[in-house]
Amino acid sequence: MRHLIDIQEMSIEELDSLVSVAEDIIANPVKYADACRGKKLATLFFEPSTRTRLSFEAAMYELGGNVLSVSSAGSSSAAKGESIADTAKTVSCYADIIAMRHPKEGAPYVASKNATIPVINAGDGGHNHPTQTLADLLTIWREKRRFDNLTIGLCGDLKFGRTVHSLISAMSRYSGIKFVLISPEELKLPSYVKYEFITEKGIEYKETTDLVAAMPELDVLYMTRVQRERFASEDEYMRLKDSYILTPDKLEGAKSDLSIMHPLPRVNEISVAIDDDPRACYFKQVLNGKYMRMALILKLLESVNEPCEKGNEVGDELRYDLECKNARCITTTEQELPHVFKLVDKENGVYRCIYCESKA
Ligand code: CP
Repeated sequence: MRHLIDIQEMSIEELDSLVSVAEDIIANPVKYADACRGKKLATLFFEPSTRTRLSFEAAMYELGGNVLSVSSAGSSSAAKGESIADTAKTVSCYADIIAMRHPKEGAPYVASKNATIPVINAGDGGHNHPTQTLADLLTIWREKRRFDNLTIGLCGDLKFGRTVHSLISAMSRYSGIKFVLISPEELKLPSYVKYEFITEKGIEYKETTDLVAAMPELDVLYMTRVQRERFASEDEYMRLKDSYILTPDKLEGAKSDLSIMHPLPRVNEISVAIDDDPRACYFKQVLNGKYMRMALILKLLESVNEPCEKGNEVGDELRYDLECKNARCITTTEQELPHVFKLVDKENGVYRCIYCESKA
C-alpha cells in the first residue's frame, strides 16, 4: 500500500506517469467516470482550504466515488483531544483513502503510520504540500512541454511556504534546473531544503531580494503569499506582508513565454491587472490540481493490495533521546508520540526530526 506524504516518495517515472494519466483524463473524462465506483475518500481538513479540499472532492466525484468530509478541526473529535493516530484508525473503518491537511508538521505522516488505507498529505504546517506540486507539475508540463532546462524564480515567503519546499524538492530531480530564490532576508528558504535539494545536488541557484532584477532570466515565476498563520509575531507579519507585489510594470523585462504561477490563495502578491496576461497560469493550476488528484487517487487505490513500502525510518540511523524544538511539529501536541531523529548528514553529525525535518 502506498501513501503520499512527501513528493520525494514518487520517482520521476511515477510523476511522468501521473502527468500522462491526468492528460488522458482531460482528453477522455468518460473513460474514468466509474473508475472509483463504490469507493470513499475522506477529506480530513484541520486547517482552512478552498482549492485542495474541493478539488479532492471534485476529483473523487468525477471518478464515480463518494466523499466523507471533516472541513474544520472544530467539527471533529480532534476538538475533544482525539489523537491523529486514533483518528486515522477510525477513519480507516469508513473510507478507502484519506486526504489530510493539518497545521502541525508531520501529522499526515503519523496518520499514515496508523491508517490501514492510503493517506495523502494535503498540506502539513509550513512543511510540505505534495499534491500542490502535482498541480504545479502538470501546469509546467502543459505550458512548457518539458521539465528540464528551466530557470525557476520562487518569490515571497520561502520560509513558511510549504508549496515552495515541495516544488523545489520535485524540480531538483530534473536536469538543467536553476533556482532563483527571491525573498526578504527573514523569509529565506529553510537551510534543510536548500542543503538537501540544491547545494548537495550541485544545482545552480542564487538568492536575491530584487524581483525586478531577476525577472529577465526566468522561465517560471512562482509567487507565494506571506503565510500569516505561521508567524509567531503579528508585527513581523505586518512588516513583511507586502514585500512583493507583482504589477504589470514589473513584468517589463520578463520573457514573452514566462509562466506566472501561484498556488493561491493570493492576498495581494499578484495584482488582478495581471489576470488577463496570457502568461498568468494560476487559475490553470487550480484546474490542473483536480486532474492530478484524480490520477493520484487512482494510483494509490490500485496500491492497496501491494505490500507496504518500508517506512522512512527503517534502516536509518536513529536517536530517541532528543526533543524537537519546532513549535509547529506534531510531537508538541501528540503526547505519546516518540521523538525520533534521523541522521541525515554523517560528516557533520546532523540529525533531523522524522516528522517535521527540523534540526536537533
Ligand atoms: N493551494 C492551496 O493549498 O489552496 P487552499 O489552501 O485553498 O487549499
